[in-house]
Amino acid sequence: MCGIVGYCGNGNVSEFLPACLKRLDYRGYDSFGFSVLSNGDHKILKRVGKLDYFAEKIQSGNIGIAHTRWATHGKVSEKNAHPHLSCDKRIAVVHNGIIENHSSLRRALERKGHFFSSETDTEVVPHLIEAFLCEGKGFREAVTLACNHLEGNFALLILDKKSNQLCGAKNGSPLVVGLGNEGIFFASDPIGFIDYAGKAIFLGDGEIAFVKMEGNSEIEIFGFNGEKKAAKKAVKINLRRWQAEKNGFKHFMLKEIFEQPECIESCTAGRIKNSLPVLEELEGFNGKIKKTERIVIVACGTSLHAGMIAEFLIEKLWKVPVKVECASEFRYRCPVIGKNCLVVAISQSGETADTLAALREAKRRGAQTMAIVNVEGSTIARESGAAICTKAGPEIGVASTKAFTTQIAVLLLFALYGAVQRKTASKEEIKLIVLELKKVPVKMREIFEKKNKIKFIAKVNSKYSNFLFLGRGIDYFVALEGALKLKEISYVNAWGMPAAEMKHGTIALIDKNFPAVFVGASGALLEKLRGNIQEVKARSGKVISIINECDSETAKLCNEFFCIPKTHELVSPLLSIIPLQLFAYYVADEMGREIDKPRNLAKSVTVE
Ligand code: G6P
Repeated sequence: MCGIVGYCGNGNVSEFLPACLKRLDYRGYDSFGFSVLSNGDHKILKRVGKLDYFAEKIQSGNIGIAHTRWATHGKVSEKNAHPHLSCDKRIAVVHNGIIENHSSLRRALERKGHFFSSETDTEVVPHLIEAFLCEGKGFREAVTLACNHLEGNFALLILDKKSNQLCGAKNGSPLVVGLGNEGIFFASDPIGFIDYAGKAIFLGDGEIAFVKMEGNSEIEIFGFNGEKKAAKKAVKINLRRWQAEKNGFKHFMLKEIFEQPECIESCTAGRIKNSLPVLEELEGFNGKIKKTERIVIVACGTSLHAGMIAEFLIEKLWKVPVKVECASEFRYRCPVIGKNCLVVAISQSGETADTLAALREAKRRGAQTMAIVNVEGSTIARESGAAICTKAGPEIGVASTKAFTTQIAVLLLFALYGAVQRKTASKEEIKLIVLELKKVPVKMREIFEKKNKIKFIAKVNSKYSNFLFLGRGIDYFVALEGALKLKEISYVNAWGMPAAEMKHGTIALIDKNFPAVFVGASGALLEKLRGNIQEVKARSGKVISIINECDSETAKLCNEFFCIPKTHELVSPLLSIIPLQLFAYYVADEMGREIDKPRNLAKSVTVE
């Protein structure tokens, strides 16, 4: 949802900025732009399209900012691409987030004579700073005053050509400072400067970091109240460089699908002892787990589907009511939340604006909170009562894969851990499930050995424009995720729904051109599922299914089927989603889609 980077140091921005921005283009990729301070002026370059095809050289210099855009306010055009300038061209700004009061600020600034050249919400920022500078304020004071006038979420990088200063302001959207040998970096995500900086400072909301180009660039942090903050401890960045490369795979998504066995291993490492779950992150939280009377899970997109699986797991193992909600809806109702209600926020990035807002609303209403994130130190992790990291490593492909399976692994461990604490399941039952979880990486690799079969199924079905994904029980949630994967990257119409619900309307769509993908891999409710398959066949619908290897009965009914190794019902989503991720990938590849950067999507959605 827009990526911003900045650099100030002894090196050359023309080397750093394009490379850093490239690392962030998973966040938005409809247009991009740079501003470099050179000979006392902003040298601006803006282009529409993806950075992949950008071969021009940007201006040399020691200080600059850049932006990759996911349009919100104003269509995709060079005019709307960032950076945006003040009227006197002193101040250049790049921005991630949304300035909610931009209309009223714009009207007031226009009345004062400011001239706007874009349709963006961002452009109010350079003009507002300019207005304070015109009143005689210094750069730091003008930026601070401007931040106090802005409403909404923002991470801003502001470049002042007069004082040769760069600063980054954070309120709600992510912003990290990287400390490298050749200077100071800013980025929306540490992956942006992974190649150049080994340490990072995570800015908090309401903070502005200033860097001045004077010999050695140094950083000073101030609050929005104007007070200087004590120096912050820099943390080592824990991202292995290879994780940010494709390593010979055609797309990041394919690489990330194939990384899943190792991701599950690293996610569960140290979290199983004597065949029982151990979650150190929850030490000190056990009292709350025991007292929990109700759980509400908030999440978006793929993380929401992980939440639905968690609902199934926790209700079964804890025997408490669980509700899963689209995070975007949660805060605008009047959710009934008490202090014995545990609200669990699930988010790969830990920055999704809707999920963060739901978490804050839950806290405001007195709930206990917990987060499951893939990015340690992310806002959602920091603001939750406890946080568990999924340890999947950086996920670059916009369509989430390894983050999803590691979320399920953590949620399963959490469900089992709570069952031990609450004594709601027998140790034997828990150990049996843990044993099956430990076998998942090996079984995932067995599925990969048969990838050509799913590739073939994808190829022959890539001619269809509509698909239904159906399942019952825990398989239903896998069906939802399978449909989401397909629509995200191939733009093919795909719906997920409970297999039995189909007959209440949707079955009207079925004909020979509308295939149904049945997920029956958990092995539960198979007789019922076979009945639903027959309903599709009776209407000339084509049936593709994901079943477990012992289910020859269902296989006989299907036009095409893919078998996964048998496992425990509660573990099965970790395996049954793999062929569906591959199916979506191979269909999209057959159709020549831009798989890692599907149209209209962004990986980290930091706007509401
Ligand atoms: C975006 C991404 C999805 C992701 C969702 C939630 O829509 O395109 O892949 O599932 O955000 O993201 P989160 O980081 O909160 O899991």
